[in-house]
Amino acid sequence: MNKIEVFCPATVANISCGFDVLGLCLETTGDHMAFYEHSEPGVMILQNEGPMLPTDPYKNVAGIAALSLLKELNSKKGVVIEISKKIKPGSGIGSSAASAAGAAFGVNQLFGAPLSPKQLIPAAMQGEALASGVPHADNVAPALLGGITLIRSYDPLEVLSLHTPKDLFAAVIHPQIELRTADARSVLKSQIPMEKAIRQWGNLGALVAALYTEDYALLGRSLHDEIVEPMRSPLIPGYDEAKQAAMESGALGSGISGSGPSIFALCKGEETAARAGTQMQNVYNRLGVANEVHISPIAKQGTHLIK
Ligand code: HSE
Repeated sequence: MNKIEVFCPATVANISCGFDVLGLCLETTGDHMAFYEHSEPGVMILQNEGPMLPTDPYKNVAGIAALSLLKELNSKKGVVIEISKKIKPGSGIGSSAASAAGAAFGVNQLFGAPLSPKQLIPAAMQGEALASGVPHADNVAPALLGGITLIRSYDPLEVLSLHTPKDLFAAVIHPQIELRTADARSVLKSQIPMEKAIRQWGNLGALVAALYTEDYALLGRSLHDEIVEPMRSPLIPGYDEAKQAAMESGALGSGISGSGPSIFALCKGEETAARAGTQMQNVYNRLGVANEVHISPIAKQGTHLIK
């Protein structure tokens, strides 16, 4: 039987000033998925590791993304998907996006890769919508394309891959509190004051410029979130302290990873990222909150075949 195995990376969405439009791909953490062709149409989900997820494909983000792609490919055949879930759901590092991107990528590969990674984004977004209630693409785009991505427009969908400065590293801490994206979205106000919007789009534009010019100081000055962080940070115990610890370790900037509770710090160089990770970890250890730290370069490659 034709079998393929896929690595589905974790991602950091928003990157402070780019709510729902910016995201980056991590290299050192992600899920594994295996795919087999099935003569019966449809999707069958098997899980062999990690937190239990629904195996009904209509209730599983991987199932929805796979079904959406099978439909797009007009496939008469189906797939069996085996999931080894390493990224905890509700962690803020793109757990649902890894499953959705992995499913779209795996189905495409199994049937001869007729679509490019960029063309897989809409199917992956369908899966993502099941988890968060909204088909946002700021995790699935970097999960599929790697690097740092910008959603210029959702309708029509236009996704850009941005330049990644070569010494850029991320430290991400996951305090083990579950925060569902749908809940973290429910605290957001639908209107924002003009003066905050002005500061936010100034930072977003400058951040993109800083990536291309590899201007780390400008990158640091741009990593601020005037809008979403103040509404969400009260949901994350220890947030202010952990962010301060990362900044005192020399991070360029720090913020909520996606919808939280994970907190990221972007750093110049791996050593600074490791220091920021340790200092954030000390905060949660003091608070008695179990946690996990990831230190990673920005992954050049998104979801990819491992066998
Ligand atoms: N942009 C989304 C949010 C990312 O912040 O709700 C969720 O990981």
